[in-house]
Amino acid sequence: MRRHGKGAQGPRAVALWLALAGSLGSGAGCRRAVTFDQADIDRHPMLAGAPPGFLLGVATSAHQIEGGHRNDWTEWEKGSYPDGTPHVKGGATTERAADSWNLWPKDVAAAATLGANVYRLGVEWSRLEPAEGQWDAGAAERYREMLQALRAVRPHPIEPMLNLWHFTLPPWIVARGGWEWDGAPAAFAAFASRAAAAFGDLVDWWCPLNEPNVYVTKSYMAGQWPPGVKDPKRAARALGNLLRAHARAAAALRASDRADADGDGRATRIGLAHNVIVFDPASGGPLDRLIARYSDRFYNHDIPDSIAAGRIKLSLPTVVSVDEAEPELAGSLDWLGLNYYTRRVVASRLFGDRGPTGAPYEVVEDPARPHNDLGWEIYPEGLYRMLVRFREYPWPLIVTESGVADRAGTVRPGFIRAHVYALDRARAEGVNVIGYMHWSLIDNFEWSHGYEGRFGLFTIDFAGDPTLERRPTPAVATFQDLARNLGLLPSR
Ligand code: BGC
Repeated sequence: MRRHGKGAQGPRAVALWLALAGSLGSGAGCRRAVTFDQADIDRHPMLAGAPPGFLLGVATSAHQIEGGHRNDWTEWEKGSYPDGTPHVKGGATTERAADSWNLWPKDVAAAATLGANVYRLGVEWSRLEPAEGQWDAGAAERYREMLQALRAVRPHPIEPMLNLWHFTLPPWIVARGGWEWDGAPAAFAAFASRAAAAFGDLVDWWCPLNEPNVYVTKSYMAGQWPPGVKDPKRAARALGNLLRAHARAAAALRASDRADADGDGRATRIGLAHNVIVFDPASGGPLDRLIARYSDRFYNHDIPDSIAAGRIKLSLPTVVSVDEAEPELAGSLDWLGLNYYTRRVVASRLFGDRGPTGAPYEVVEDPARPHNDLGWEIYPEGLYRMLVRFREYPWPLIVTESGVADRAGTVRPGFIRAHVYALDRARAEGVNVIGYMHWSLIDNFEWSHGYEGRFGLFTIDFAGDPTLERRPTPAVATFQDLARNLGLLPSR
């Protein structure tokens, strides 16, 4: 076992444990023992018996692929930490990224090659509304061309799922305090309303927000993303406003998009892409179990619980406690998206050095387990565990992201098979999973890792190929097998 960072469990730990144990209940860090057998995965008919209309596709985000933005990330990309280390690995920027703003027909063609019937893509708020209330009709027109091109793919259209916010903010919002600004939810709802008016006749599947939990963890707790803050109280404030923004945007979309783009009788299907991580305790000791359990609760459950209850309830014991009614949240979701990548086996460092990210735990890695290029454990069983757990919520589930940083492209085919097996196993147990989207369609800007994390089914040579050709990796064939099994591509 390899441990990251330092941990300590001093005598004060006992008192805190006693104080918290009551509020957390029993079964801290409960682990649902399950281990997949590779032979089962190998002989499994992927997605067999998936319900009609199952969404099979890919995902990207605007800032990671488009290039040419002016937002908080383009500022952050130019900066560095006090010790001189650039905010982004190697000082990489998104000046051009994958140039999808110009090369989007290549992306549509790539998605069509895969046999996908859905593409979750983003629009960039700072591009469409560069100043408050100012709408860029030319930019909206280009997004409309992309959406029309997706719908025009044959033999079957590619349904767009439109993401309105994926981590980046226009400078005018940042100037007022970003997500900490209490006017941000209303500003976002106004943006959603205009997006509905501009794109509603082409879009039914809406995803207002991507991963508020990842955002506040990185931007307000670890200080690794803009605005580079390490303050749990400010994190809670930003998260509260993100939840309000989701609720108001959902209402605005329902009010402004009355056009049923795919003719199934429903003009809007609104969801949230929510990141989930399996937290398992590194030992049977009470503090490890405690930290696993409350990380799980805060990170995985506070957001969906708040939405289901119509109350913003956020809890990081001793640090953050929010409980406020927000009735508009209840009923704001038609589906819940899970973005699943990895698990963390955690050891408490509640009372020791918090390390550079300020996390109250250290991640204990087992070198015998497989890891991706960014060092994240590959753990397909975790997707099954999460799907089974999330059946308790009242919404159909969609895997809105699943993917692997794998520059060589050799791990991804097996990764897809194992994760689809996980999804199918959950479905076989009655979990209502209605879609799977692979992250990502193409290699892209991987936030603070720059261009080091390669997640694309299609790879791009950013440094050496000025045409930024999208070249298929071996996993394209794996994905096409999924499409074939759903009848989206002709069988061989
Ligand atoms: C994010 C993506 C990111 C991916 C891989 C997800 O949490 O939504 O933007 O590229 O993880 O790190």
